[in-house]
Amino acid sequence: MKKIGILTSGGDCPGMNAAIRAAVRTAIRMNIEVVGFRKGYLGLMKGDAIPLDTKAVSGILHRGGTFLQSARSPEFKTPAGQRTALNNLKALGVEGMVVMGGDGSLTGALALHGLGVPVVGIPASIDNDIPFTDMSLGVDTALNNIIYAVDCIKDTASSHARAFVIEVMGRNSGYLASISAIATGAEYALVPEREYDLAEICQQLRARYEEGRDNAIIILAEGAGHGREIADSIKDAIGFETRATVLGHYQRGGAPTVFDRLLASRFGKKSVELLVAGTWGVMVGLSCNAVLATPLEDVIKGEKRPQDEVLRLAEVLGV
Ligand code: F6P
Repeated sequence: MKKIGILTSGGDCPGMNAAIRAAVRTAIRMNIEVVGFRKGYLGLMKGDAIPLDTKAVSGILHRGGTFLQSARSPEFKTPAGQRTALNNLKALGVEGMVVMGGDGSLTGALALHGLGVPVVGIPASIDNDIPFTDMSLGVDTALNNIIYAVDCIKDTASSHARAFVIEVMGRNSGYLASISAIATGAEYALVPEREYDLAEICQQLRARYEEGRDNAIIILAEGAGHGREIADSIKDAIGFETRATVLGHYQRGGAPTVFDRLLASRFGKKSVELLVAGTWGVMVGLSCNAVLATPLEDVIKGEKRPQDEVLRLAEVLGV
């Protein structure tokens, strides 16, 4: 293999730059040329590629986001879009691709594989909903962002004897909500994987208020409701004044944590090694602290990560 391409697609996340850097450095050591497609599959369809050498990836390890930029591109789902991408790869002499992103992006990678393009995927999404990896890139940093915000909110909540509903991202996954609730000692984690009864929560919050507690924190996964609506609907029943905070895209930015920098470096290196070894159509993933490869087909068909153990832990700890 003489030349490979890299793209980052879907929602960005901290660690993407570190993974690009690791892939480029690994490839260069193997005398392989690298290009980066800008804005994900959009760049692939436009043939918008930039050369990536050691200098191009210096000074990016610690930066959040992706310097190649990202996009969600429905056009790539069409046969015409995929044909254009394939022609561009041929014209540029790109013999293999590293694709980084969430389930939509990895579905695109599987389509490329189906067209005969050697491809390796890297799971990158703060939602941590991708099967066959214990952790996706960006999750640890997003969690650290969330707990910093929740700790701050708890200070002001206590000062005013308020209950806060804090809405976090995750799409249909409650991973960020349950882990951050455990890590901040929140009173509740409302997640799509577990039914909740607002009337019962109101009763418990009222009891908590009458006991003289000075705050209550409810962490809500975006897939389980709307923070402002829930805060409004409980405000008359619980004694506490209520407020809602939607953490939004703040969660997805910022310098990657040590965990994400290391994971990104391991994923980036391994993805190039797999391409060179001819192990194509796979995704790298973390399993019991080893980086393993799983066929993309199994990843796409696979069940979303089960939350049972985390939810049980939350229950035992009274979340
Ligand atoms: O998939 C990552 C994610 O951040 C989800 O948690 C969230 O629902 C979505 O992307 C937001 O997408 P956008 O950045 O397009 O608003």
